[in-house]
Order: sequence, then C-alpha cells, then structure tokens
Amino acid sequence: MTRARWGGTVHLVNDASNPSSASPKVTARGVSKRFDTTAGEVIALERFDLEVAQGEVVCIVGPSGCGKSTFLRILAGLDTASGGELTVRRDNPDKPENAVVFQEYAIFPWKTVRENVAFGLRMRGVPRAERDATAAHWIERVGLARFAGAYPAQLSGGMKQRVAIARALAYDADLLLMDEPLGALDAQTRLTLQEELLRLWSETGKTVVYVTHGLEEAVLLADRVVVMTAHPGRVKTILDVPLPRPRSIETTTTPEFAALTGELWHALRDEVARAQGYEVPA
Ligand SMILES: Nc1ncnc2c1ncn2[C@@H]1O[C@H](COP(=O)(O)OP(=O)(O)OP(=O)(O)O)[C@@H](O)[C@H]1O
Ligand SMILES: [Mg+2]
Repeated sequence: MTRARWGGTVHLVNDASNPSSASPKVTARGVSKRFDTTAGEVIALERFDLEVAQGEVVCIVGPSGCGKSTFLRILAGLDTASGGELTVRRDNPDKPENAVVFQEYAIFPWKTVRENVAFGLRMRGVPRAERDATAAHWIERVGLARFAGAYPAQLSGGMKQRVAIARALAYDADLLLMDEPLGALDAQTRLTLQEELLRLWSETGKTVVYVTHGLEEAVLLADRVVVMTAHPGRVKTILDVPLPRPRSIETTTTPEFAALTGELWHALRDEVARAQGYEVPA
C-alpha cells in the first residue's frame, strides 16, 4: 500500500503485506528541506540519507540549527519535505504510525495525568474501559501511579516528561520519535529517565529515532548515532555502538563507553565550531 502523504516528491509507503521483510523501518533518501523566509532561503536539510532497522534505536546529534528537529518533524508528518524520498514501513495498519515526544512538556494543562495519557487512545476511538486500563498500566510503569488524578501544574518537570513518555507508549505506535525529550531536565532526573527509557524500550522492542545534544546520552541509548553536519544538515558519519544490552548508568563508567563518547565528540567538534562561525583548520 502506498499513500502519498505530501505533494511533490516525498511519499510515505505503508507495507503491511510482508511484516517479516528485512526492509528497513525508515528509509530516507536525499531528503531536503528549504524554508523560504523574509531574510531569504534557508536550506535546513540537504540530501539527508538514513536507514533505521525495525527495533533499532538511532540517536541523532549535531550542532544547533543543523536540521535535527526538521528531520524529525518531517518523519512525524508534522512538516513537508521539499524533495527526496521517505519511506516508513508499517507492519500493523491498525496501529498508529508514530508517536512523538518533544522537549517542551507537550501535555494539556487542563487535563489530569490519566486524561493526558489516554488522550491519543481516545482520539483513536479506543473504548473507555480499555483506554483507562492502558493508561493506568503506563502511568504505573513510569512511576506516576500516585499522581494519576493530578494536573500538570502540580507536577515537576521530570514528572511532566514522564506523562509525555507514558502517553507516547500508551499510543503504541510502531515508531517512537523523540526530540530532546530529557533536554529540559536536571542531570539526576535525566539519568533516572534514561534508565527508564532503556528498560521500556527493551520490553517493547520499539523502533526509536531520538534527537539529543547529549553525547553520553546518545552512546548510552543508541544502537547507532548519526552525526549531522552544521549547515546545511546532512549525515556526516554514523557511529556504531556495540555496547552490550541491557545497559544502565553503570555502562557509562566502562572504558568502552568513554572511548565511544570520545569518538563521537571527535566527529562532532568541527561541525560545532563551523556552526559557531569558527574557522576549522584543514
Ligand atoms: N519554520 C521555519 N521557518 C524558517 N526557518 C526554519 C523553520 N524551522 C527551522 N528553520 C531553520 O532550519 C534550520 C534547522 O532548524 P532545526 O530546528 O531543524 O535545527 P535543530 O538541529 O533541531 O537545532 P537545535 O539543536 O537548536 O534544536 C535552522 O537554520 C532554522 O533556523
Ligand atoms: Mg531542535
């Protein structure tokens, strides 16, 4: 099944006919994005290529403004590409295609934790009893059972982000898209949630595309880390992370972890300098 979601050259292909096929979950080929602004044209993405396998966790890092969020938004269907081809394979047409978690706590302030987590299910027409049970399950899994009836204003930043994560998992989409979901949190809360994400992903086997500024976070979470160039955004290099799973915060104390983080910084530092306008010696 092919469904053209956007005009132009970018299409979304749904293939439920062969769930066991080894074709990637996500294939981006030459995806580009141009913004026409009053100050002129901004090329946010240029010939961006990426494949993500079923069940894989791919982190994307790159200097500020390199097009990470732009790519994620296009992948989520929240924005259109200017060119290229994007394919998302769907194995179960009854499930939603993707769920998104952003850095800002994108939850409704006027709804309780329970209502926020059940919101997507309600939109999908899931019957009340089932959505209440599913919401209760995920609220419990992210450690918010005591706060199910609370409103976001009564929660800390970390708790609000847990609500957003529980909502994305309750939605049970094939593909989980996360844009700096822990970026606004303090270091300790971030560590706790990183461990929770590792645990939840290992149980659910989700395919995850995760944007972060944290190099250690990327190495801890990812099977592969994509390093993007400064401007316009392209794939500079892709780093394999062969650290065994299950991983935990202890993983970050190993020499292998330190070596991989160093390698990642090496790949990224010229791009960061370039994005900040410094000359990079050849
Ligand atoms: N709606 C828009 N209109 C015009 N330009 C935009 C728009 N959205 C993004 N851009 C530009 O596209 C480029 C990429 O932006 P994007 O938000 O994808 O970067 P990013 O890698 O997510 O950065 P950060 O790490 O700071 O979140 C930037 O130059 C930005 O100014
Ligand atoms: Mg961004």
